[in-house]
Amino acid sequence: MCGIIGYTGTKQAAPVLLGGLKRLEYRGYDSSGIATVKDGKILTAKAKGKIAILDEKISGGTKLGGTVGIGHTRWATHGVPNEANAHPHRSADGRFAVVHNGIIENFFDIKSELTALGYAFASDTDTETVAMLLQHLYRGDGDVLSTICALQKRLCGSYAIGIVCADTPDVLYAVRKDNPLVVGLGNGENFIASDVTAALEHTHDFVLLGDGETARITPDHAEFFDADGKPVKKQTTHIDWDIGSAEKSGYAHFMLKEIFDQPKALTDTLRPRIHGDKIVLDDIDFDSKYLDSLSAVDIVGCGSAYHAGIVGKHFIEKHCKIRVNCSLASEYIYSDPITGGDVLTVIISQSGETADTLAALRLAKSRGSRTIAVVNVVESAIAREADGVLYTHAGPEIAVATTKGYTTQVAALYLIGLKIAERKRTVSDVKYKSLIRELLALSDKVRSQLSDENIAAVKKYADRFSSHKCVFFIGRGTDYAASLEGALKLKEISYIHAEAYAAGELKHGTISLIENGTVTLALVTQSALYPKMENNIKAVKSREGTILAVSSPDNVKIAVHTDGLLTIPECDDDVSPVLTAVVLQLFAYYIALGRGCDIDQPRNLAKSVTVE
Ligand code: G6P
Repeated sequence: MCGIIGYTGTKQAAPVLLGGLKRLEYRGYDSSGIATVKDGKILTAKAKGKIAILDEKISGGTKLGGTVGIGHTRWATHGVPNEANAHPHRSADGRFAVVHNGIIENFFDIKSELTALGYAFASDTDTETVAMLLQHLYRGDGDVLSTICALQKRLCGSYAIGIVCADTPDVLYAVRKDNPLVVGLGNGENFIASDVTAALEHTHDFVLLGDGETARITPDHAEFFDADGKPVKKQTTHIDWDIGSAEKSGYAHFMLKEIFDQPKALTDTLRPRIHGDKIVLDDIDFDSKYLDSLSAVDIVGCGSAYHAGIVGKHFIEKHCKIRVNCSLASEYIYSDPITGGDVLTVIISQSGETADTLAALRLAKSRGSRTIAVVNVVESAIAREADGVLYTHAGPEIAVATTKGYTTQVAALYLIGLKIAERKRTVSDVKYKSLIRELLALSDKVRSQLSDENIAAVKKYADRFSSHKCVFFIGRGTDYAASLEGALKLKEISYIHAEAYAAGELKHGTISLIENGTVTLALVTQSALYPKMENNIKAVKSREGTILAVSSPDNVKIAVHTDGLLTIPECDDDVSPVLTAVVLQLFAYYIALGRGCDIDQPRNLAKSVTVE
């Protein structure tokens, strides 16, 4: 979703801002823009579409002078994607320019009030209201900080805002509430950014702006203030992500690179937490008394994080013998959830910034539930607010469609499940140890799936099915959970209509959609359910449907009933979703590639969904 970058230093700002915007592209956007301050005036440039268009318009930034500025990638919420609605927005007098991520919920009231006072608006956005309101509140004395404090008192909703003012030429301002914003501290230059990747090539030292806080930043100083304008001391966090890990490193797409990152990512999630044959979760306070009192687990997330949660639900219920609910965050927050001190809430989010998921975390906490966040992005809002965090350590994920983010979330849930099971003694010692061995073996098994030979096998079917309009995914138990993720991956990046169904439900309606040539991917990795899946596959075949199975190698009979077969490495049924995911990620990737889709930035989608 919208991305913000800001710069103040000694270099020409626009080229630096363009570089930052390119790093923010992955968040999803439909227009972009830059504003700089030069000779007491604000200069702006905007473009609809890709950043390359903006880049060309201002010749790589050289056409826009000034050493302070703000840039923005916009993902339309209020008003269509066009130049007029693209950020930055200027105040009518041209003194202020703002970029904004979030939604100003009372913008209509403010806009009406200002329109009545004679302010003329040029866009349909809520953000322009902020620029106009700044002009309205400003006393013309250079005290922008007080103006921002007054602004905050008027705004309802969520926002991360970057501001420049023509009267304070080398100062950059930032203010936030419920939307991410970091301040990057460089040498003689400082930055603001929606996330650290945008400024990582310049600095690894960041200050995370708190809710309601304002930053006033010059090339040599960054000062922080609370909502009343009182100075606050902030800690600097060193982010040791390597900029190379946020680059394609020779791969055609970030998505492919991130698929290949998975062996390492899984090792980084699992290894540090497995000591001999014990799971050690130092990062979360799982004391024995608490685990004994635990009567239920709620898992909450959005998109693929929710799908990871469903895998976790199966695993935890099976091995811990306690009830587990898995909810979509956007549903959970309006469902009046029954929770409390004996319920553990596991909040899953790769970015740690998803608005619905953050709201779910806050709701669970407010009802007395202990919250554990499974998060990738260090020090993100969800990581900071949860009672405990289990970082997945997957490294930066840039492609909108998550791959390593998802598989490492599943791995983290296995760790949580086994930890609870160990304390509750609901799993035998033999099974416990064998599952630990399975977890440790996952990384090598995924590596083997990425061999040329295995990729060629997936590609063969992807090529065969890439022109289909519709693909179904079926499975039972954890295979159904994996189907949900497989279907999401395919629809996200290839725009093929893909739906997952619990295989047993086919006969209750969906089978009416099967006709000659309809493609169904059948996931068959749960040995106890092979016969049941075989029946479902036969039912599809009887209607002349085409079946591609993804199965375990021991399921020798399956090939007889299918039109194609991809096998995953031999594994315990419980951990098969990680291996199935890799096949389905590759399947989606090569189909999208064959269709010429924009794989890393699919239309209408955003990586980090910071509005409800
Ligand atoms: C977006 C992304 C998905 C992701 C979901 C949740 O929709 O495109 O890939 O699964 O958000 O994101 P989170 O960062 O909370 O895991």
